[in-house]
Amino acid sequence: MRTVHTIAELRAQVAAWKQAGERVAFVPTMGNLHRGHIHLVERAREMAPRAVASIFVNPMQFGPNEDFAAYPRTLDADSRQLEAAGLDLLFAPSVAEMYPRPLEKMTQVTVPDLPTVLCGANRAGHFTGVTTVVSKLFNMVQPDIAVFGEKDWQQLVIIRRMAADLDMPVEIIGVATVREPEGLALSSRNGYLSVGERAIAPTLYVTLRATAERLRAGERDWARLEDEAKARLTAAGFRPDYFEIRRPDDLQRPVPTDVDLRIFAAAWLGRARLIDNLAV
Ligand code: PAJ
Repeated sequence: MRTVHTIAELRAQVAAWKQAGERVAFVPTMGNLHRGHIHLVERAREMAPRAVASIFVNPMQFGPNEDFAAYPRTLDADSRQLEAAGLDLLFAPSVAEMYPRPLEKMTQVTVPDLPTVLCGANRAGHFTGVTTVVSKLFNMVQPDIAVFGEKDWQQLVIIRRMAADLDMPVEIIGVATVREPEGLALSSRNGYLSVGERAIAPTLYVTLRATAERLRAGERDWARLEDEAKARLTAAGFRPDYFEIRRPDDLQRPVPTDVDLRIFAAAWLGRARLIDNLAV
């Protein structure tokens, strides 16, 4: 595996592969990698002869009171995992390489509507930070395929919309969430949990499952199901941010006749904000 830190080196390597007719699959990450990320790399390797990943803790997607400074940076351990997974090229740029001017002076990419709900409702500017950095990374890597996790379903839907609206020549692939045996979705932020909190954390997934079962059984009072789920999370020790039943593709509130539903949850546990979602 080769690691590069500059856009020029990245472009030169990818151009050589493209000249040889090799397709490129790309996995963007913020590092502190776990089995969920590595699974995306494995999928990328199955889909194209060359796999590229990026590690960049993107300041533009963190709010002023969020964990940008505290976000774990573990490049050596990450590199070993990526190498073992058979990655060809790791791009690990500095903030100055990605944003040569102050963030607020950089051109931004904003998808309308989809970022205003769920995780976007209380994180103004978060998804603009995501779509801006992913646009930049797509322009740098020029991948044929890009792989994202369903754990961040809203992010996946927004990136699909961005790629479609801006005619980006890249196929967006979503990959199912990798979970711990008790159901907790793997996340870099799980490392913020104390031992006691870690024991409580699977309740988020358990509550999603229970709600999905009631929806499958025909319950249609969304508000009641959501309120009961939030009460259950609060009783377990969470501070729920949202728990919402929505349509998977446009993230709108469903109408009673909708059958294709997805449940979305975000809740604080100690200093970790955990998110998860589940198809019904
Ligand atoms: P990060 O949180 O590092 O996640 C990188 C990718 O890994 C995302 O596509 C995410 O959905 C996926 N992922 C995380 N946990 C997963 C799990 N348990 N199972 C499967 N996939 C999982 O998401 C970001 O970084 C950033 O917003 C980024 C897209 C890199 C832009 O900065």
